[in-house]
Parts: sequence; C-alpha cells; structure tokens
Amino acid sequence: MEKRQRWSSRTIFVFAAIGSAAGLGNAWRFPYQAASNGGGAFLIPYFIALITAGIPLLILEFAIGHKFQAGAPTAMSKIKKGWEWLGWWPILISFIIVTYYSVIMAWVFDYLWYSLTTAWGNAPQDFFLNKVLHISSGPGELGGFSLPVIIGLIIAWIAIYWTIRDGTKSVGKVVKWTVPLPLAMLGILVIRGITLEGAVEGLNFYLDPDFSKLLDPKVWVAAYGQIFFSLSLAFGVMIAYASYLPKKSDITNNAIITALSNCGISFLSGFAVFSTIGYMAVQKGAPVAEVAGSGGVGLAFWVYPEAINLLPFGNALFALVFFIMLLTLGIDSAFSLVEGVVAGLSDKYSWNKKKTTKLVIGIGFIVSLLYATKGGLYWLDIVDRYINNFNVVTVALLEALLIGWGFKSKKLREYVNPISEVKLGPWFDILLKVISPLMLAIILVWNVIQEIIDAINGTMYEGYDLWAIVVGGWLVLVVLVIISVILAKTKLKEIEPEEVLNEE
Ligand code: PFF
Repeated sequence: MEKRQRWSSRTIFVFAAIGSAAGLGNAWRFPYQAASNGGGAFLIPYFIALITAGIPLLILEFAIGHKFQAGAPTAMSKIKKGWEWLGWWPILISFIIVTYYSVIMAWVFDYLWYSLTTAWGNAPQDFFLNKVLHISSGPGELGGFSLPVIIGLIIAWIAIYWTIRDGTKSVGKVVKWTVPLPLAMLGILVIRGITLEGAVEGLNFYLDPDFSKLLDPKVWVAAYGQIFFSLSLAFGVMIAYASYLPKKSDITNNAIITALSNCGISFLSGFAVFSTIGYMAVQKGAPVAEVAGSGGVGLAFWVYPEAINLLPFGNALFALVFFIMLLTLGIDSAFSLVEGVVAGLSDKYSWNKKKTTKLVIGIGFIVSLLYATKGGLYWLDIVDRYINNFNVVTVALLEALLIGWGFKSKKLREYVNPISEVKLGPWFDILLKVISPLMLAIILVWNVIQEIIDAINGTMYEGYDLWAIVVGGWLVLVVLVIISVILAKTKLKEIEPEEVLNEE
C-alpha cells in the first residue's frame, strides 16, 4: 500500500479546507443569492441552514474521513455494506463540477489579462458574451470553440495539475498563499467599495430584510443549496481532506472554524460587491435592483467590470485586484474537487496517486471542452443548477441518514469527542438524525414537485427547452447514479506498483 499522505500541520489542513470552501461561490454566488432572496432576511434561512446542516455535516465528513482514513467510497462501504455507491455519487458530482468550474476559472484567467487594459471598454456585457464567449443562440448550437476560453482553460488545468502534483505537500505550499491573499484583496475592495458615493444604497439593497420572502420555499432551497456548495459539503472533498489528518486531530473545532470563516468571507464579499453596485447605480441614475439584476455569472464578468469603469481612479488596478481575488479564491476550490476524485479512486483501487491525478485531469480537461464551446454557457448554467439542487441535496440527505441511523450518531460523537476541543452532546443526535434529514427531505420533495409543475406548464428553468433540461439535468443525474453503482461493484486490478510519494 502507498503510504497515506499527511497535512504538515493543523493550520495547513484548516487552510486547505477553507481554501476548498471559499471560492467563486462566495464572491459572486452568495451576494447575488442574498440579494434576490430577501436581502437581509436571506441571512435567517442561511444561518439556519448553517446550523442545521452545514456544521453538523461538516463535522460528520471530517469525522468519517479521519476515522476511516479513506476517500468517500471506501469510507461509506466501511460504514455499511452495500453503500459504497453513496461515496461514488458525490465524487462523480465533484468531477462534473470541476469540468465547468475550470471553465469559470478560464474566464478569470482571461480577465486577468483583460484587466491590464480594461479591455471590455464601454460595453462589458457585450464584450463578455460576444468577444470572450462568442455565445451561440442556445444549448442546441454548440458552434465550435471560443479561442479565449480554450486558452484560459489550458492555463486553468495546468494550474490545477501543478498544485496537486505532489498531493498534500504541494497543496500545502499553495494554500499558504491562496487563502490569505484573497482576504487581503477582499479587504481592499471592501474599503474601496464602502467609501464610494452611493455605497449605502447598495448595502441597503443587500441587507434590508424583506421578511415576506421567508414564506417562500424557494428562498429556503437557495439557502441550503448555497451552504452545501459553499462549504464543499456532500462532494467527497471534505472526507478526502480529513483522511489526510494525523490520528490525533481535532474535528469539531476545525469544522466550526472552517464553516464560520467561509461564511464570513461570503458575508464580506457582499459588502465589496454591493457597495460598488450602489455607486454604479448612483452614477447611472438607475435603481440598485436593476443594476444588480443580472447576477450570477454576469455579476463578476460584466456588472463588476462596468462598475470598475466608473471608478474615479485606478480602474485597471481595482480590476486586477478583483480578478486576482477570484483566481486565488477559485483555484483551491477547483483543485480540491480533483483531489476528492483522486482520493476516491486511488483508495479503492490502490492506484498510484500521481498517475490517477494525471488520468483525472486528462479526462476532466476533455469533458470541460464542452463548456468552452460557444453554447457552453447554457450547458454550464443547466448542469450547475440541477447538480446542486438535486444531486447534492440528495447525497446530503442520504449521508445524514446513513451516518445518523446506520453508523449511529452516538458512535460518531464517541469517536469525535475524545479528540476534539468542542464536545458534542446528545443534542447532536437529534440534529443529525431528525432535524437535518427532515429539512433536507422537505426541501427536496418541494423541489421535485416544483420541477414537475414547471415541466407541465412549460415554464422551464430560464426558459430552456425541455430536452435541454432533461439532458443536462435529469439524464446526468441518472447516469451518475448508474456509474456510482457500477463503480461500487467493480474491483479493478492495480495498474501500477506502489511507490511512496510522501515521506512524513
Ligand atoms: N465551495 C466552492 C465555492 O464556494 O466556490 C465550490 C466547491 C468546491 C464546491 C469544492 C464543492 C466542492 F467539493
């Protein structure tokens, strides 16, 4: 057997975990989700999701990774026979996500270059859609590749490979930079943002609570979805990372530190983004809601550049700071996704880790080319929504049930408490066995019903055709589950004699 790699210190582990959690999901997804789901009121379901699902599941994933010293599939199969597939499913989800996450990273690399001259000129939206993506008419028209995206994509994958080529060792070196650096950048952007005229209007839009939204189940789905995506939960990543911890390691405190730091970064990102958008609204004489309207991907790649255009000085500099922040936030999330896949494969099949890394990156690059086509943005949008709203929530639900009831939450506590600073009481059992699964089940069922209603009414997500939703959403789900079951049933021969990669 290959000797298991280890983090060189507790700090490096926490940095790697925060690095995975804090990503593009914090810098543009969270602010926009908050703004469109009740502003300040969104923070209530978000906080409830953090307490009822985020922190307990993070403790759970850290604990089982640590206990079983293996990636998700092996850990799940050791918990209960016949459940290995539940370890593969999140790993396949991670694989799918990294294939489009790398494409967003590709745009970021492109924009680092464009920032130097603020190349988007006076029309950032047109620039992004037509000059960078060369967007096609819809998901039915792939229309060949977009050259700038391909170039960015090659750089993104090289960066991912370079960081994880030596596992925990090289990752440790990189996260020392990629965790503090975006924080410094964020600090600069927050200060710049809140000292602009109109910042208050933007922040009011971000934080003003619209309590009526709390009655809308969509807001709750958004909050739970955001917590999972943001904390990298139910992806197998945190299990893999915790499996590289030494035997005597704190679990609960590390989980709480990771979760709170991640959510703090999200909250702060909202300040940077919305203060600047408030300024932009004042400059343009338009309502903040209208300016912030084209959120999601657009928020980072055209709304923010447009706001930067209007700054009184240092436009290129602030653009650069913003995109360096996105790069350093995103890159450690991207490679953590690959790491989760590699850990799953090399643990089960005893494959050589270096070779497995190359294999996963090679296949990942090829699949990611789909999103580098001119129709790629549409597929990215569809796959992202369905994978997060349905696959991830289901995995989280099953994980809570399997560990809470199958492994027994009490046993988990008894494992975690002696090695951890923060002790879990019997209340944790209620949280894990009842509250988390109940909330997740309600959300999932509601989501499915809504989807069926939408399909019947022909009001599909973002107006896409039903076939595209079926292919990019439901077919992907079915295929992932089938592959998970197959992987769980196969026993492959070792492809490589072992070699020790990492001396402690
Ligand atoms: N947490 C990352 C973000 O917020 O951008 C995205 C992510 C990374 C999701 C790793 C899942 C994962 F396993």
